[in-house]
Order: sequence, then structure tokens, then C-alpha cells
Amino acid sequence: MANSDLVIVILAAGKGTRLKSALAKVLHRAGGRTLVEHVVRACQPLKPREIVAVVGHQPEDVSASVTPLVVKTVLQEPQRGTGHAMLVARRAISSRAKFAILLPGDAPLVRTETIAALARAHRESGAAATILSAEIENPAGYGRIVRQDDGSVAAIVEDSALTGEQRSIREINSSIYCFTLEKLWPCLAALKPQNVHKELYLTDAIAVLRQKGEKVQAVLATDPDEVLGCNTRADLAAVDAVFRRRKRAAVMDAGVTIELPETVLIDPDVIVGADSRIEPGVQLLGKTRVGVSCTIRTGSVLSDSVLEDNVLIKPYTIVAASHLSSGAQAGPFAHLRDGARLEENARVGNFVEVKKSVLGEGVKSMHLTYLGDARIGSGTNIGAGTITCNYDGVNKNPTTIGKRVFIGSDTALVAPVRVGDGAYVGAGSVITKNVPPDALGLARGQQVNKLGWATARRRQLASAGKPVKRRSHTKSKRRSKPRPAKRKR
Ligand code: UD1
Ligand code: MG
Repeated sequence: MANSDLVIVILAAGKGTRLKSALAKVLHRAGGRTLVEHVVRACQPLKPREIVAVVGHQPEDVSASVTPLVVKTVLQEPQRGTGHAMLVARRAISSRAKFAILLPGDAPLVRTETIAALARAHRESGAAATILSAEIENPAGYGRIVRQDDGSVAAIVEDSALTGEQRSIREINSSIYCFTLEKLWPCLAALKPQNVHKELYLTDAIAVLRQKGEKVQAVLATDPDEVLGCNTRADLAAVDAVFRRRKRAAVMDAGVTIELPETVLIDPDVIVGADSRIEPGVQLLGKTRVGVSCTIRTGSVLSDSVLEDNVLIKPYTIVAASHLSSGAQAGPFAHLRDGARLEENARVGNFVEVKKSVLGEGVKSMHLTYLGDARIGSGTNIGAGTITCNYDGVNKNPTTIGKRVFIGSDTALVAPVRVGDGAYVGAGSVITKNVPPDALGLARGQQVNKLGWATARRRQLASAGKPVKRRSHTKSKRRSKPRPAKRKR
């Protein structure tokens, strides 16, 4: 689809006053990307001579978001309207270009096929300008296409300048056009700021072209959603909803079950394998890849992570920049982050956090645990309440646990420390020294059982006239000490 006589110009200099934001309008996000990035991506497959973005408000940030996509930028300073923006763009447009497609940076739903069809219609018609129009339910805020009795386009009238009769026109200007450049340039030079904002409106060029006897046509977009612009927060939400719906439809088309799809958020680059099931309220973000036959249960949020096949994510689990191999399971309420890796069939359960750690094949850590900077060999069981104490206040230190190890509940492993293959660690231990393979590591206070102590205490309380309670908790401050118990031999 190479178009060497065509340039694409994206208008991205405006502030976006109606968004009431410190961030430039085109940098707002919808459907998982900035608005302007969507527009650039839709244009790229046309392979034009070049793509030029007109930047103005927060120019460095806007440029930074488009230059990696091989887009040339040109600065419009001050921003004096869409017509002025195109005049500024001229500086960056090669004289060899015959046609220009112009798009606003704030209408991100447009598809490549639609832009291509617009260019084709323009070339075939010999018109000086071809406008992409759309018939929408609520045209308020948009410029309207005013047609003559014979159906030809007479002008574009901005919303603020509509006469009473024109208000009923539902055909709007998308702000996406194809122009024959040698016809456009003289008209732009003739523009006057005839509006309250004292701006040069590109839309006024249409009437100028008509006055010169040039042919102007408007072609209707087949899907009116494609032309939705983002001038307000409500527009952003509406556009985001369309992107999300499109993506879910594509994912379902690839053989994935989504329950209550309207509650599920999937970013554009996410891939999900067939026969996977996604429950309500799930978010799949960034570059997440999910294999086949996985289940992602309700309320879970996965970002930039890889799930191989048959992985089960139980409810309310957060997975960020992590890898789960086939058959692995996580959750409910687990948190995997920052390079956590579960090898095949490894499982983490309730309230377990795993950071930058590798859990070997079949490792289980099912309850209330923190594993940070740890390597854990296959077949090892991590007891409830285990903590790797990886941070000494200055450095993060590693914990290495071998294969088939049993870590008793409520163990603190003070890193750097190693537990050898096949070893046991007694529950409640604070392990500060390496545990050799097949040894039992035990590091806790010795238990003392004082036989009969409780009986003696109750007897003592009774003789002092106190109510005898089986609970040790009492409000009385004057507590009599129980006599030391006699040891029964
Ligand atoms: C514009 C059209 C309107 C159309 C609507 C479709 C004009 C005068 N009006 O209105 O007919 O129905 O789009 O969404 O063109 N920009 C610049 N430099 C400027 C001003 C704007 O680069 O000096 C950029 C903005 O960043 C934006 C785009 O041009 O991406 C359109 O500007 P915006 O202010 O959103 O125009 P609308 O009021 O939406
Ligand atoms: Mg707009």
C-alpha cells in the first residue's frame, strides 16, 4: 500500500482546554494508548512519503510519544487554529507530495481501511478536497456538513456558528480530509480569523475552494464511532469504551470466553490463547500474553506478564512483570511482581507476595508469605507465614532454598542465606546461618511446660475471693501471682 505522493499530517498542537487538564490533550489515554499514538498507528500501514505531526502545547512530550513511531514533528507556536496548523505543517512537507491526508490527533478510533478508502475516493474523483463525514446521533459540538440542493458540499459550519435550521444537520465533519495540495495552499493563505477565538479554521478552506469552483466531496464513514473526537472527559470515556469493546470482540473471536465482557479491560497489545476463560472485573494490561486454556478469575489484574498454558489465576490476584509456566496457579489475593517466576505447576496461595524470585517446578507456598530475591528448588514446600528478610536497610540480599525442602510455618530467613536440598526448617525459626542439605535447621526458643500451673493459679484466685475465669484476661490490676507449680515426676 505504498503512497509516495501522499503525506499525512496529524494536528496535535492544541491544549485541550475543555479537558481541564495539565496534560496536553493528545497525550490523554484511551484504549490503552495515547490518543495521538492511535492515530499514528492507524496511518502507518498506508506507507505515505512521511507522517508529520504538528506539535505546540507540551511539544517535547508530544514529540517524544510520536518520534519513536518515525514521525517528523513541526512546531506551531502560538496555536492559531487548525488552518494555521496546516500552514505551519507546510514547512515540513516535501514539494513532491501531491496529496495530504489530514487528521486531528484527538480522534483516535479511525481505522487504516477508512483512511485508505478516503485517499482512494479522493484520487478517483479528481476533487480538490474529500471530507470524511459521519451521521451521528448527537452532533452537538461538531462542525456540520452543509450541502447544496444537488447534494454537493457547500461548506463546513462550526457548531458555534450554526443557524437555527442548520442545527438539525446530523452529518458532521470528522476533521479527517484528503486534499490536493496545489489547490489547498492558496486557500489557506486566504483564510481570515472570522470567529470568536480569532483562529484560522481549516474548515473555512472548504467554502473558499467552492468559491473558486473546485470540487469538494464528503464521504460518509460506514462506522460513525470511528470519527468520535475527544474534547471532554466524557468523550474520552466514550472513546475508551469503543476501543475496549473492539479488543474484547477480537479476543473472543480468537476463541476466548469472557464473562460479563463489559466489565473486562484488555489493552491493545495483549494476546490471549484459545479456550482461556476470563471472569468479570479482570484487567489484562500492557504486553501481557496468556496461553491456551488458562483461567483468570474475577478481580485479577495482570500487566506485562506471561502466562503459559493451563495457568489458573484465582480471584483478586495482581501479577506484574512476571512469568507463570504451564500449570502454575496463583491466588486468591496473591501478588507476583518484578520478575517473579513460577515454574511448571508451582503454586502460590492466599496473601503471598513474590518479588524477583524463582519458584521451581511444583513449589508450593500457599499462605501469608513474602518471597523476595529468592531461588527455590523444585518440590519445596514453604510453610504459612514464611518471610525472606531480603533487605538489610541498605542492600537486597538473596535467599537460596534447594529442592524438596520443607520450610516450617512462621520462618524468617535472614538473607543472604542458603538452605540445602532436602533440608527441613522447624516452624517459627529465625534462620541466620546456612542449613546444610538434609539437615534440620531449628532456631527458636525452647518450649517449657509448667505442669499444673494453671490449676494452681485458679486455686489461688479462688482463695482470694476472685471469680475464677478460664480466660487469663482480667481487668483487675491486683493480680495475685500463682505459686510455682510442683513438678510431677
Ligand atoms: C474540529 C473541527 C470540527 C470537527 C471536529 C471533529 C475545526 C475548526 N473544527 O473541531 O469541524 O467537527 O474537529 O473532531 O477544525 N490543533 C492544532 N493547532 C491548533 C488548533 C488545534 O494542532 O491551533 C489540533 C488539536 O490538537 C486537535 C485538532 O487540531 O487535535 C482539532 O482541534 P480541536 O480544537 O479539537 O477542534 P474541534 O473543536 O474538535
Ligand atoms: Mg476536537
